Amino acid sequence: HRAPASRPGSRPPAVIAHRGASEDAPEHTLAAYRKAIEDGADALECDVRLTADGHLVCVHDRRVNRTSNGRGAVSSLELADLAALDFGSWKGRATDAEAPDTETTDPGDPADTAVLTLERLLELVVDADRRVELAIETKHPTRWAGLVEARLLALLGRFGLDRPPPGEPPAVRVMSFSARSLHRIRAEAPALPAVYLMQFLSPRLRDGRLPPGVDIAGPSIRIVRSHPGYVARLHRAGHQVHVWTVNEPEDVELCLRLGVDAVITNRPKAVLTQVGRR
Ligand code: G3P
Ligand code: CA
Repeated sequence: HRAPASRPGSRPPAVIAHRGASEDAPEHTLAAYRKAIEDGADALECDVRLTADGHLVCVHDRRVNRTSNGRGAVSSLELADLAALDFGSWKGRATDAEAPDTETTDPGDPADTAVLTLERLLELVVDADRRVELAIETKHPTRWAGLVEARLLALLGRFGLDRPPPGEPPAVRVMSFSARSLHRIRAEAPALPAVYLMQFLSPRLRDGRLPPGVDIAGPSIRIVRSHPGYVARLHRAGHQVHVWTVNEPEDVELCLRLGVDAVITNRPKAVLTQVGRR
């Protein structure tokens, strides 16, 4: 399977909500993903990690300290431990001048800011009243030697999302900084597009070729800013280009000019407006 590369600039980029609409709502919560769907995002990005008792949860950091009122590594906590934590009230504290006043603001339904399992996120996507895709990133998968991918494939299989029906585009793509993780997934589910994430441009990737078995390039916006010709090189090599994390209007503008295929952003509503799709 190879995702077709679009002609640069031929159409506005797909807009992928990074950790949900994570500028407006606490990242990786139901609240953030519901908002992203409401805002019109084409796809939802999420990071997945394994709990001590083998559940895949949507958490970015190795530890829960930054995004919850708890402490410790996800891998050392059980799902029940995580379910007792609040993943919402950290948002806006200290650094955000527009932080909600917790005295007067309705805290909302705690279920909307509880730890989010990948299973619950898949339900949300499957039950959505319009098509919305999912871009699932495996985080530090080497530690678990294949367990993250095995769990992910089993879960996608249960929802029928590992193999798209004939003639239909896949609703799920997988992403990773680890080519090995993507290979493990593609070995079992060859129809799922795979995005190879890059933080910096290593010399062996400069010619636009990606590791074998990977379809889509996922360069950081930093790479795109400092090597704008790289996008065209990737397109010539037949790869789509999905850029992260594109929040600043001038970066959206650059991505539009270069004809990238998707932008991954914390601000799906603002980006959809800027690219003329809202
Ligand atoms: O979408 C890719 C991007 O999310 C990778 O970086 O650290 O936000 O997971 P990070
Ligand atoms: Ca991510």
